[in-house]
Amino acid sequence: APLAGVIGLPIAHSRSPKLHAHWLKRYAIDGYYIPMPVMPENLAEMLRALPRLGFVGINVTIPHKEAVLTLADVVTDRAALIGAANTLIFRPDGKIHADNTDGYGFIANLRQSAPEWVPDRGPAAIIGAGGAARAVVASLLDSGVGELRITNRTRVRSEQIRSEFGARVIVYDWAQAGNMLEGSATVVNATSLGMRGKQPLRIPLDALSPDALVTDLVYTPLITPFLAEAQARGCRIVDGLGMLLHQAAPGFERWFGQRPTVDDETRRIVL
Ligand code: ATR
Repeated sequence: APLAGVIGLPIAHSRSPKLHAHWLKRYAIDGYYIPMPVMPENLAEMLRALPRLGFVGINVTIPHKEAVLTLADVVTDRAALIGAANTLIFRPDGKIHADNTDGYGFIANLRQSAPEWVPDRGPAAIIGAGGAARAVVASLLDSGVGELRITNRTRVRSEQIRSEFGARVIVYDWAQAGNMLEGSATVVNATSLGMRGKQPLRIPLDALSPDALVTDLVYTPLITPFLAEAQARGCRIVDGLGMLLHQAAPGFERWFGQRPTVDDETRRIVL
């Protein structure tokens, strides 16, 4: 039976094992998906050992998403551009193939959860400039968004994104985050603010149009204070759980040979 899994540190709270176990059962596939805590100093050795143990690939999470790029034999363009990988395929010829499906998951979730949404309806506004934000930026630019606004507490990280992703990216100061929302059609929280146990994301929403689609990458809680406030202003909101589910689908398909469907049952099982 083919083996797959996820490496990270810590790994106990990862939702991926539940998700993949659910799909394996749904499609009656004889396979396993195993969570594995891996310390950074053991990463290289683990990547060499896993294919020999019967693994066909793995997901990668914090803190290894950047380091695996230097250890992989083939890195997709989007993983290189984002600077991180979340999905590895161990090929029969022994080569390690690294991809990043976070941006795909972000777009696939919006398309499924808000079928009326189109990327080029107006500017997109991204709050945050970390690893998750980079995947969102790459996918929105790829989907044809004309103008991408970005703000981050640490301004140099947004400027770095502009210099790497080009002139469609416009940097706003963190203190001007509220103004960035004016005329924005798609608004994304890609910071960790709003997560249970952290402060909420506090941005003045007066300039936010009720026609905007607002989404959050945070999914604990499912409806963050930021999403609740946007919804109260009449905006269409999309929670972050779907991105997690959709980013997992390409890996599952490559490893186990079946494209899995994301539906309400999938959401219930992972919650
Ligand atoms: P990830 O890969 O999940 O995006 P990250 O690279 O650590 O993780 O990025 C976290 C994001 O949340 C960053 O945009 C970070 O802002 P900084 O670049 O200024 O650190 C943002 N963030 C986290 N805590 C924050 C806080 N208290 N106030 C404002 N932004 C915060």
